[in-house]
Order: sequence, then C-alpha cells, then structure tokens
Amino acid sequence: MFDRLSALPADPLLGLITMFRDDPNPKKVDLGVGVYRDESGHTPIMTAVQKAAQLHMETEDSKTYIGPGGVIGFVEGIKSLVLGADSSALKDNRVAGLQCPGGCGSLRVASELLVRLKEELTVWVSDPTWANHIPLISSAGLPIKTYPYFDPTTGGVNFEAMEAQLSQLGPKDVVLLHGCCHNPTGADLTFENWKRVAELAAEKGFMPFVDIAYQGLGDGINEDVQGVRYLSEKVEEMIIATSCSKNFGLYRERTGTLLIQTKSSENANAIQTQIQDVARANYSMSPAYGGFIVDRILSDNSLRQEWETELNAMALRVKSLRGGLLEKIQARGIEKDFGFITTQKGMFSYLGISKDQVIRMREEFSIYMADSSRINVAGLNTQCLDYVADALKTVCE
Ligand code: LMR
Repeated sequence: MFDRLSALPADPLLGLITMFRDDPNPKKVDLGVGVYRDESGHTPIMTAVQKAAQLHMETEDSKTYIGPGGVIGFVEGIKSLVLGADSSALKDNRVAGLQCPGGCGSLRVASELLVRLKEELTVWVSDPTWANHIPLISSAGLPIKTYPYFDPTTGGVNFEAMEAQLSQLGPKDVVLLHGCCHNPTGADLTFENWKRVAELAAEKGFMPFVDIAYQGLGDGINEDVQGVRYLSEKVEEMIIATSCSKNFGLYRERTGTLLIQTKSSENANAIQTQIQDVARANYSMSPAYGGFIVDRILSDNSLRQEWETELNAMALRVKSLRGGLLEKIQARGIEKDFGFITTQKGMFSYLGISKDQVIRMREEFSIYMADSSRINVAGLNTQCLDYVADALKTVCE
C-alpha cells in the first residue's frame, strides 16, 4: 500500500539546513532557518537557561507524568509575560492555558479547537505568512484565505488594504495576526494599526488568533506585546499561540503555550478541558522539560534579569546587523532601495528580490535564504556583510 505514496519535496525552510550543511564553500552564509546566531554563527544556549537547567537537574526527583495542562507555573508565567500583570482577562481568570510542543503544537491545538466549534470558520492569514502556517492550520480541516499585508514598494505594511479586507469579515472568520516581528517580512503593525484591528474585531465579531514567537526580539519584552495587550482588553475572546524557541533559545525542546481568552471564568474552565482533550487525542501530553526551565527563569528574579539582559543583547545585535548591512548595500550604489532593512523588526527581513535572484545568491555565492527572499538577519555577522552586499549587487544588476 505504501508504494502508492511518492516522496515529497523538502520543506521550504527546513530543507535549507541540509543544503547549507552539504555546501563545501568556506564562504557560505546561512540566512535560512530562523534561529538566532552569534557573531561566530553559533546558536548558543542562553546563560539563564543553562543555570535553570542545572538547578532543575539537581532538584528533579521524578519523571512521572505532570498532568494534562503541562507545567502549571510555566503556563501562568507565559500568560503574564504576554498579557501583562494588569490584564483584565487574567484578573478575571478568563484565560485557559496549555503547555504545547512548541509554537507549532499550540497553533495545531488551537486549530483543532476551532474545528470542534463546527462553525464553518475561515482562517485569514497575512499575505505572505510563515510558510508552515497554511499546512499546519489547513490540515486540521480549516479553510484558509489571505488578507493583504505586505507592501513590496515600501517594505512595510499596506494597512489600508488590510483594513479594507478585515472590514468585510464577520463572526465566522478567524484572523491570524503576528504578535510582533512578522515572519517572514519583518514588517510590523504600528500600535495605531493594532488599535484599529481591535476596533474592527470588536465591531465585526471576527476572532483574533495571535501567533507570537519573537517576543523580546523586536523593541523589547513589553514593547513587542503592546498591540496584543491592547487587543486583549478590547475583545472578549481571542487565541494566542506562543513559542519559547527563539526568545529562550529552546528550539529543540519544543516549548510553547496555547492561551484561549474566553468570556468568563466558567467558560475558561470548559475550554481548558477541551484543549487538554485535543492534546490527549493527539500526543497525550507535552514534553515537560522546556516548561520547567522557563518556569524557573520567569519566577526567579535574578535568572529573569539575566535572561532579559541577554535577550536585549540579542535584539540589539540583530538591529546593528540591519544597520551594517544597509550601510554596505548603500555604499555599493545598488539601485533598489533597501532602506526597509532598518525599519523592519525582529529576525527577518524580506529582501524583495526575485526567486531567480535568490537561486543565484545560493548557487553562485552559497548565500542561503528562503525562496521568498526572506533572510534571517541573525545569520549575518560583521565578517560577511561585504560579501553579502557584493553578491546582492551582482544579482541586482
Ligand atoms: C523559521 O521560520 O525559519 C522558523 O520558525 C523555523 C521553522 O520551523 O520554520
């Protein structure tokens, strides 16, 4: 029977890992998969994570199951990290929360919860969106449509077009929003834009579904969630999927949370049982380890301070690489205006070059990026900026 199934092409992002690894060119540059890298190209384990892991190892005395919700302290810690200590929804106990296997796990459980509503919902995603959103959500059985988002002429958001589309939506629509550091474009909504989205959600009744995987890697831990917090105050119900892959560097630990903001604490209790049931039917329970680490960091003042300092340094490094790359590009007099590189936020920038040019960057210069021309800015380092800018000049001529 299995011989009826043929091999699939490599995943558009994960396939780049293998291609890069197998490239013998010593000058190769990996701007593909979204992982933070330091100046030497290494993805370090954050110091606070190392310390928390050490403490955890010294104190963990059992490997028994921890229960269907995951590490409770972790989930509660993430609720406050995202929504803030003053959140009305948190004060009213209106937010159900589940530890999930990474941001992907959270997105998937949320999608299956939406299917359970039997409402013939449509999920709207930004054009473009993260490459895995569409397969992940649609394979749960939800139809997907796109709303206009990126403006290639400015490298920012075409909010007018987005607003016009959202104004047409209603209670059978779910709108997936990137909480900050939009993946793949780096083009973020302004706070004013968030306010308008909140107004539209409240007025038209569509459900906001926020994916937030880069909190702290844009303008700061609190600054990056200003829009999400505003939204949470203005709408009764919303979904938030979070990930600790990037801001805690816990990529392989698959550590995420799903938060469902509901109308009442009674409803939150009911939804808690539903999301746990979705998890149980899929994989039973999340791996606990990442949750224990993050719980320790968020609940210990000194570890938390250390984590915040390190995260800020990571964000600053990415910002300075943005400035450095733009400077090198401008020095070469490339006709295309790449000024957006320094206004886009987070780890990604959408270069706006064609797929053919992306392939030339890869084949002629061993510079790897997603086919969409998304680069992981954190994959740059001060040594390779000239090389990357030269290559860009060649393919843009
Ligand atoms: C990315 O966008 O490159 C990362 O989130 C890794 C992934 O799983 O796609």
